[in-house]
Amino acid sequence: MIEIKDISKSYGSGESRCNVLKGISLKINDGDFAVILGASGSGKSTLMNIMSGLEKPESGQVIYNDMDITELSDKKLVEFRKENTGFIFQQYYLLPNMNVDKNVKMGADLAGNKDYKAIIDAVGLGEKLHKYPSELSGGEQQRVSVARALAKKPKILFLDEPTGALDEQTGRQVLDYICKLQKEYGFTIIMVTHNLNIAEMAKTVIKMNSGKLSEIYTNKTQKTAYEIGW
Ligand SMILES: Nc1ncnc2c1ncn2[C@@H]1O[C@H](COP(=O)(O)OP(=O)(O)OP(=O)(O)O)[C@@H](O)[C@H]1O
Ligand SMILES: [Mg+2]
Repeated sequence: MIEIKDISKSYGSGESRCNVLKGISLKINDGDFAVILGASGSGKSTLMNIMSGLEKPESGQVIYNDMDITELSDKKLVEFRKENTGFIFQQYYLLPNMNVDKNVKMGADLAGNKDYKAIIDAVGLGEKLHKYPSELSGGEQQRVSVARALAKKPKILFLDEPTGALDEQTGRQVLDYICKLQKEYGFTIIMVTHNLNIAEMAKTVIKMNSGKLSEIYTNKTQKTAYEIGW
C-alpha cells in the first residue's frame, strides 16, 4: 500500500511563492488502478512526482508498506525507485540513438530482467525490434516507453498523461495493453489524466482542485479502453 500523509509543496519564494500542494493525504492499495483527475495546474504531476520519489515534498510523508521514502538518503531512494517504480511520461523520452530492443533492454537491465523480449511482444512491437524511435509512430513510441517501464518489473506503474500525444485509436490501444499487462503482472497503476472518459476505466478516481483533493470515489464497474468515450 502507498500512503501519503499531509503532503505540501511550494515553488518560489517571497511574493512569487506558490503553494502547489496544500496538505494532501491519500491511500492507494496494491493492485489498484487509480486515476488522478484535475484541471491544468492543479498539481497532478507534482503529486505523482512526489509519490514516486522523483521529487521531495516540503512536508509530509510518503509511506510504502511502513517505509517512509521521504527519509531515505538519495542513494537509497534511487535504489528504491529502481526496484519498485516504473514511470511513463507524456512525451515518451526514448533514447533516439537506440532501437526498440535497446531502449527496452535499458529498463530490463535495471531489474536484471533477461526475458524482456516477451514484454516487447506483449505491446505488439515484436516485429519492430530494430527500428529507431524516429521510424515509429507516436503510438508505437509510447508502447516502447510502456515496455521499457514494464521491463523493470515495477510494483507501481506511474503514468503522466500517457495518451496526451496520441490519437484516439493508438490511445485506446496503449491503454488496452496497459490493462492487459496489469492483469498479467498485477502491478499498481497510478495515472494522471485530464480525460474524464479514462477515469471510467479506473477502480479509484482521485480528483484534485488547486492543490487539494476535492473528491475520491470507487467505480463499481470498470470499462475497457474500447468501451469508454474519447
Ligand atoms: N519546477 C517548478 N517550478 C516552479 N513552479 C512549478 C514547478 N513545477 C510546477 N510548478 C507549478 O506548480 C503548479 C502545478 O503544476 P503541475 O505540473 O503539478 O500541474 P498539473 O496538474 O500536472 O498540470 P497539467 O495538467 O498542465 O500537466 C503550476 O502552477 C506550475 O506552474
Ligand atoms: Mg502535469
